[in-house]
Amino acid sequence: MKLFDVYPLYDVNPEKAKDVFIYDNHGNEYIDLYGGHAVISIGHSHPEYIKNIYRQLNKIGFYSNSVKNHLQEQLADSIVKYSGCEEYSLFMCNSGAEANENALKLASIHTGKSRIIAFKNSFHGRSNAAIAATDFKKFHSKLENRLDVTFINLNDSKTLENEIKKGDVCAVLLESIQGYGGLDEPNEDFVLLINSLCKKYNSCLIADEVQSGFGRTGKFFAFQEYKIKPHFICMAKGMGNGFPVGGLLINSIIKSEHGMLGTTFGGNHLACVASLTVLNVIEKEELQQNAREIGKYFIKNAKQIPEIINIKGRGLMLGLEFNNEVKEIRKKLIYDKKIFTGSSGNKNLLRILPPLTIKKRHIDIFFKSLKEVI
Ligand SMILES: Cc1ncc(COP(=O)(O)O)c(C=O)c1O
Repeated sequence: MKLFDVYPLYDVNPEKAKDVFIYDNHGNEYIDLYGGHAVISIGHSHPEYIKNIYRQLNKIGFYSNSVKNHLQEQLADSIVKYSGCEEYSLFMCNSGAEANENALKLASIHTGKSRIIAFKNSFHGRSNAAIAATDFKKFHSKLENRLDVTFINLNDSKTLENEIKKGDVCAVLLESIQGYGGLDEPNEDFVLLINSLCKKYNSCLIADEVQSGFGRTGKFFAFQEYKIKPHFICMAKGMGNGFPVGGLLINSIIKSEHGMLGTTFGGNHLACVASLTVLNVIEKEELQQNAREIGKYFIKNAKQIPEIINIKGRGLMLGLEFNNEVKEIRKKLIYDKKIFTGSSGNKNLLRILPPLTIKKRHIDIFFKSLKEVI
């Protein structure tokens, strides 16, 4: 049977990986500046991660959400401890799209409204409401086009206010730093305005931290750059370091009811242990601090290269914009220089999303290689 052909693939077949390195089936070593799409947070095959998951697998790997799972409670407490987000409860699921989908649904139930405000160049996932709130029409079908979504330019305060004022908006869905869209950010005034307008007009603010969360930008959540309190905080990717796990933090003003949300696999024992290990290692190895430091070092180096016209992002969620498409640069980096990088909706932008354990010496190799291929 053939694979359903939806991914344009590089001809590289990773067989094993360790920290920031990937090894293909011919034994070639690659530096991973892509993190499997911002997923690898504490490094590939971290010994503590392997040990903890293995140990848990020997106890119990899965049981349904119809019985207690103390690991979920432990994870909820740990997320509060590391993020400082109090007055929230945790619902666990399996992916970023699912986290956003559940947040949008709860926002609609809570407000009794159904219109969504999202932003130009947003990406929120492939499920129905998440894709409807994604501003890349090439991913849409007629199904999700039935949902009522208004797309606004980042920092267009006037349009935002005019739209929320209409009183029918259940949620504003925001990436504090856009991922797939190309690393653009709203300014602080605009973020504060969203926060206050949501309160004033009974709409929910959903922080999509699926890509930017769990320390990637140097803060635990990217929105913590600002003094705001989202109704929902959606998480996935770095939360599990490769184990499929997602979740949402739900503000205590949102009331739960039995049956409101549900999932078979979400929050299983292995997912909880994966995420608990990620949190412990982020703290023990000071990876948030590393993300901040290496991010600054990366930007300093990028500024020396005249072909780079724009440097975007924070911490280890970064983008380098060129005057031309980066497709050929990425090809040369992966095949000739053995370095993985990422693309984005902006074809001129190279995305850098390495494991949070990356060191200056890896960044030096990257820039030496980049200079040779551009
Ligand atoms: C900001 C953001 N939200 C949501 C998603 C969807 O996550 P998933 O692919 O886990 O469903 C992504 C994936 O790239 C993302 O970057």
